Amino acid sequence: MQTVNDIRTTFLEFFRKNGHEVVSSSPLVPRNDPTLMFTNAGMVQFKNVFTGQEQRDYTRATTSQKCVRAGGKHNDLENVGHTARHHTFFEMLGNFSFGDYFKENAIEFAWNLITKEYGLPKDKLLVTVYHTDDEAHGLWKKIAGLSDDRIIRIPTSDNFWSMGDTGPCGPCSEIFFDHGDHIWGGPPGSADEDGDRFIEIWNLVFMQYEQMANGDRVDLPKPSIDTGMGLERIAAVLQGKHDNYDIDLMRALVEASADATNTDPDGPHNVSHRVVADHLRSTSFLIADGVLPSNAGRGNVLRRIMRRAMRHLHMVGTQDPVMYKLVPALVRKMGGAFPELVRAQALIEETLKLEEQGFKTMLDRGLKMLDDATDGMGEGATLSGDVAFKLYDTYGFPLDLTADALKARKIGIDEDGFSSAMEEQKAKARAAWSGSGEAATEEVWFDINDRDGATEFLGYETETAEGVVTALIKDGAEVKSASKGDEVAVLANQTTFFGESGGQQGDAGVIKTEKGAVIEITDTQKKLGALHVHLGKVVEGNVAVGDAAEFRVDHTRRSSLRANHSATHLLHAVMRKHLGGHVTQKGSLVAQDRLRFDVSHPKAVTAEEAALIEADVNRLIRENSEVTTRLMTPDEAIELGAMALFGEKYGDEVRVVSMGLPESNEHAYSLELCGGTHVKRTGDIGMFKIVSEGAVSSGVRRIEALTGADAAKYMAARENVLATVAADLKAVAEDVPARVKALQEERRRLEREVSDLRKKLATAGSGGASGGDAFKEINGVKLALRSLDGIPAKELKGMVDELRDQMGSGIVALVSGDGGKASIVVGLTEDLTAKFSAVDLVRIGVEKLGGKGGGGRPDMAQGGGSDPSQADAALAAIEAHVAG
Ligand code: ALA
Repeated sequence: MQTVNDIRTTFLEFFRKNGHEVVSSSPLVPRNDPTLMFTNAGMVQFKNVFTGQEQRDYTRATTSQKCVRAGGKHNDLENVGHTARHHTFFEMLGNFSFGDYFKENAIEFAWNLITKEYGLPKDKLLVTVYHTDDEAHGLWKKIAGLSDDRIIRIPTSDNFWSMGDTGPCGPCSEIFFDHGDHIWGGPPGSADEDGDRFIEIWNLVFMQYEQMANGDRVDLPKPSIDTGMGLERIAAVLQGKHDNYDIDLMRALVEASADATNTDPDGPHNVSHRVVADHLRSTSFLIADGVLPSNAGRGNVLRRIMRRAMRHLHMVGTQDPVMYKLVPALVRKMGGAFPELVRAQALIEETLKLEEQGFKTMLDRGLKMLDDATDGMGEGATLSGDVAFKLYDTYGFPLDLTADALKARKIGIDEDGFSSAMEEQKAKARAAWSGSGEAATEEVWFDINDRDGATEFLGYETETAEGVVTALIKDGAEVKSASKGDEVAVLANQTTFFGESGGQQGDAGVIKTEKGAVIEITDTQKKLGALHVHLGKVVEGNVAVGDAAEFRVDHTRRSSLRANHSATHLLHAVMRKHLGGHVTQKGSLVAQDRLRFDVSHPKAVTAEEAALIEADVNRLIRENSEVTTRLMTPDEAIELGAMALFGEKYGDEVRVVSMGLPESNEHAYSLELCGGTHVKRTGDIGMFKIVSEGAVSSGVRRIEALTGADAAKYMAARENVLATVAADLKAVAEDVPARVKALQEERRRLEREVSDLRKKLATAGSGGASGGDAFKEINGVKLALRSLDGIPAKELKGMVDELRDQMGSGIVALVSGDGGKASIVVGLTEDLTAKFSAVDLVRIGVEKLGGKGGGGRPDMAQGGGSDPSQADAALAAIEAHVAG
């Protein structure tokens, strides 16, 4: 038997031998198409190559492309499990020619592969062509030798393939396999074509045109080829099965589901096992490609698929989470062809387990409520919209899950009633908000949010992606378009721009529309926790609502924001380790050029502690371990040990960011609830440098720090300072501390010397430098009056003593100016205290010096003032007093 893996290999190998580049499947989340929720065909990744916008260094390619059809236009979810060929996940085998070969080779390759390599009998095959495509008709006849009745002309859109409303398109030709007359159905184009006998296995598209948004259809630069063959379908044909779920790969998953639940794969739970087999594939591949369950956009589709499978497992009768246990079976079967599955295995298992754990209790209670509500209802009855909404709102039942649960009993749901219950809840939320008084300015965001829903954020995975402009705001009001020079706020269905939140500043960058408008974005804000509002200016062309555009985040800014944000997480964890568990985050700012982190801590972080903290953060950076993110409920996250911010309101689910290898076996070094963007590995932070530590308020300290290039720049500037000092000292850097110490000692010694000399000068008697008139005599009283500079106040007393001794009998008054201050000391010899008081004399001087008071003993008193320039006036006043 040719296994699914053999069939895939044969296909790719056949085209490789025929000059095709074997290209890996692109991710399920398309990066280059704003209108597509998931990749749903092999040509999606080559869209721009067909139109000539993108060049590759090959003109022939072949792939086995992962595709998901759930949510959006192609939604096969509800049928999965009940039919032979519906899947939410499938592989599309394809060969592509970008202006290389055209119809003839395409038909020849296809025919040779299926009849020679795969060995399908010619008489079981028939083909269709577009009704006007005589060329294709002729080629089938020539190459395959098919008779006219086996080449069926189809006039409908079935044989004209287009990617979507716009994009590459062209007539196509499909190959059908006849499963035999024991199965009901007619050939394509017949009245019974919907039967299961004739199954389309391969679609060859002759890409010739590009469908433009304005309705024009223009020729592609060169005619090209795009083909698609469902791997599961061809495998069914080659393995002699009629049902895709009976091929080796799907059967293994069905059996894994049956084994894990101790049930019969073909018994009464057969549909459930098929559902699980299919949904296991789509959920695992979506998680591997970066989608995590959430309440909006792609994450919501993933959640709906997961929960549908989980309900089926619940029906089979399992009490504990079981879906995650099936992942190894899938990895065994598909990990060889898709290594991303192996890499993400742990993440897939953990995500499935947590989701199933969280959903199980709600499922029990919700199903009970559903049972009560439908008790006594018969076929054709309708469940009220209110109950369906309550199941959705309280128990997390997506509408399609409720529908699925009622399907077997043929009970419908009042979907209009469900929608109006939903509307009512939104209106209540808005009314509650308008009470806060800010509603008038924010009204516009409510309107947009109600109309368009949350912006899907793709920026965790990529910095550039396409989106459709859904709203434009100019001067506070919505407008349909904006032109060059306008300052605008731009909203889109999806974006890579992070909206400021959780302390992290918003992204800047460029939005370029397909029609040539360029909008420079300087900031992105987040409104109502849901809308990413791009703020900027149109610098070229006109932009209108509905335009498709490329959203390109400023890479340098984003990289710095990422590094700074991840560094705050490491800093937080390290501070708790070194300073204690009382340290918790009180606020943070993650900017492009720095980070600021406030924590509760009763005293200053010492220089030694800061050095230890810094070294430890840098150790974790050098460790270069992977940074991972999981989505879970806040309770699960906290149970896991994640750091949550007290008082912060978290939604139904939170992102939990782990970084740093665990020190114990418990969990990563740092585990935090966080919606920000982070580095892939800690090494991407580059380097961490604390630049300041200070108090914010009592009990709260603030650390400011730099990372990466900014830290390096800061260190270089510091080094430069050292180099300059060393050069001035004519020393090498290593000797600078010793030299500075020596200079300080030298300076202290010189200061002492200067002080001594000054004192000597001041206390010099008649032989002193100030000349023979050192002592004046007034009314028979000897006076030493000196105005000095730079003598500290505490030294003046000693000098007064010395002069008093020299005089034998007399009065000494010394004033010294030191900066903006003047000090005065007055001393008398004992014999004069009966006549004069040092305290009185000092007060006279102080008054002149612009001070108040002054005091001491009758023979020695001191005081001060603020005006040293009045030193002479002060001495003159004292002299005048003595003179009487
Ligand atoms: N792109 C073509 C399809 O999806 C081959 O059918």
